[in-house]
Amino acid sequence: MLNLGKLHFGGDYNPEQWPKEVWKQDIELMQKAGVNLVSLGIFSWAKIERRDGEYHFDWLDEAMQLLHEGGISVDMATATASPPAWLVKAHPEVQPVNFDGVRLSHGGRQHYCAASGVYREKAAALVDQIASRYASHPAVVMWHVNNEYGCHAPYCFCENSRQAFIKWLQERYSSLDELNASWGTDFWSQRYYEWDELVVPKRTPDGTHPNPGQQIDFKRFTNDVTLELFKMERDIIKRYDSVHPVTTNFMSMKFTYAMDYWKWAKEMDFVSTDHYLAQHDPQNHIDLAQQADLTRGFANGQQWLLMEHSTSAVNWQPRNYAKTPGQELRNSASFVSRGSQGVMYFQWRQSQAGSERFHSALVPHAGEDTRVYREIAELGAWLKENPEVANHPTDRAQVAMIYDYEQFWALMQANLPTQDLSYAETVAKWYRALWELGIRVDFLPADASKADLSAYKLVLMPMVHMLSEAEEQAYHDYVADGGNLVVSYFSNISDRTLRVKLGGYGGKLVRELAGVYVEEFYPLREGQGELSNGLKPELWSELSRLEGAKAIATFKSSDVDGSPALTVREVGDSKVWYQGTELKLGSQKKFFKDIASTLGIDMEGGDESEVVRRGPYVFTINHAKNKVSLKKS
Ligand code: GAL
Repeated sequence: MLNLGKLHFGGDYNPEQWPKEVWKQDIELMQKAGVNLVSLGIFSWAKIERRDGEYHFDWLDEAMQLLHEGGISVDMATATASPPAWLVKAHPEVQPVNFDGVRLSHGGRQHYCAASGVYREKAAALVDQIASRYASHPAVVMWHVNNEYGCHAPYCFCENSRQAFIKWLQERYSSLDELNASWGTDFWSQRYYEWDELVVPKRTPDGTHPNPGQQIDFKRFTNDVTLELFKMERDIIKRYDSVHPVTTNFMSMKFTYAMDYWKWAKEMDFVSTDHYLAQHDPQNHIDLAQQADLTRGFANGQQWLLMEHSTSAVNWQPRNYAKTPGQELRNSASFVSRGSQGVMYFQWRQSQAGSERFHSALVPHAGEDTRVYREIAELGAWLKENPEVANHPTDRAQVAMIYDYEQFWALMQANLPTQDLSYAETVAKWYRALWELGIRVDFLPADASKADLSAYKLVLMPMVHMLSEAEEQAYHDYVADGGNLVVSYFSNISDRTLRVKLGGYGGKLVRELAGVYVEEFYPLREGQGELSNGLKPELWSELSRLEGAKAIATFKSSDVDGSPALTVREVGDSKVWYQGTELKLGSQKKFFKDIASTLGIDMEGGDESEVVRRGPYVFTINHAKNKVSLKKS
């Protein structure tokens, strides 16, 4: 668990990039800015282990000592994120192979295959050295395993991965017959008769794609094999330190999807995440809020830690816009309001060399007499003056949205009714509609129990494409017990193996619970489609009919005129809404506003301001240029 009674402030510290004279100045500037925590050694493997088994800790000992004397705590990293040159030279098979069969090179970072035995062995040896050496160091307050697992080369298609994939499949399926049935391998002559015939889903002939079941299982396997790496490192640390919590930094960002963080969070002592803004987007504070809320979901509603964000510009977008004055303070306040136990950055001092030299930091190239340093020092002072904020989790919302990585993976595949579907965009649009209405949202996984669901007045299901029967039942039970649901088009189409549920699309969830019988999909053509109530659809329509629901709107100017587009079914005191199309943002807002009014859901702030409560603390943040007055309904 994260410590209470204190908000953390600081960031990645890479002293190895600087001569020692700079280190003393670093400590002074950290103290002046109110920094109380740094993540140390994240990319230090080559500096620590200069040849196989030859470790150099003198420099790190010295840096640790300076930090400790300066009253700055350490989030001790395990340094395994970027294997050194000597390792890949001796064992080239450590480097991952991409979808096209190309082996990726040393020279960037994260160039390791998660299934590589050599990588595991060498990483374990390094972690053992670091953990045993620093476990009782008084500066260490937490452990930072690796870095952003699955960020750069999550999927490896090498022979080691193939072997590991087969083993994983053997654990998942009781027999090859079961695997063949669930992947549907009688299609296109794909049936397997021996386990060793199985392949990883590499590139196939043009116009064809690997089997859908194989693809989704490979994504599950990749998650699990990578999570094993985390668990390996965590368990080594625990052998030496059973007191301080262990984490690894997630990437809760709109288009990062390779790891299933719901599963990861269960293995961690506390959840931490990184977030970077799409600075070209003037509404990026809404994405920030979404990802912070999602991270709180992974943390099961409890406090978590923002491990990295930027003080100003990043260096990896097409144009790297700097933050505007005051923006960073608003960003940080939003993270803290949504449950972060402080504010951490990449990185302390802006690099002079290397590919991140144009990425902002707490101490910019120009030094401390700068807007950035002054603003962060102001923030540091605020965090120091308000330590009790840390003792309170963010208040629970009245609305929960389902978010599930396997849906993301399923909807990324080719050969769907339209290639224009985007899970990330639809979820973001629903979230934005709610944010602009001033409706707060918590996130839940698709396999949430009925008890988890029951804490909410309203549960939203945007494109929850796959559900097992047991999962489906939990939503039925939630509604039977008084819960309210909104289900979108293309939900519950398949079971978790991607086999389609027959007898009306959407299975029992749509046909019985929502009361709509869906026959056929009609993706909308460009510019086509209207709704009878004036709301604006896009992307999707479907041929359907009511089977117990009432129509709120039907399709017009489409190929399915008269088919229900928006419906509601009353089940006792509960209501189940079905949205058989994608709505444009303004229309999505109107639809949700009506639902919120019907159910008496609180709306506070909205438009360009947010109001978030964390126990007795009320955070009100205005993102508009002008003053606004807050409204509540
Ligand atoms: C993160 C990473 C940091 C740094 C940062 C730059 O993804 O963890 O090491 O590269 O991005 O934005």
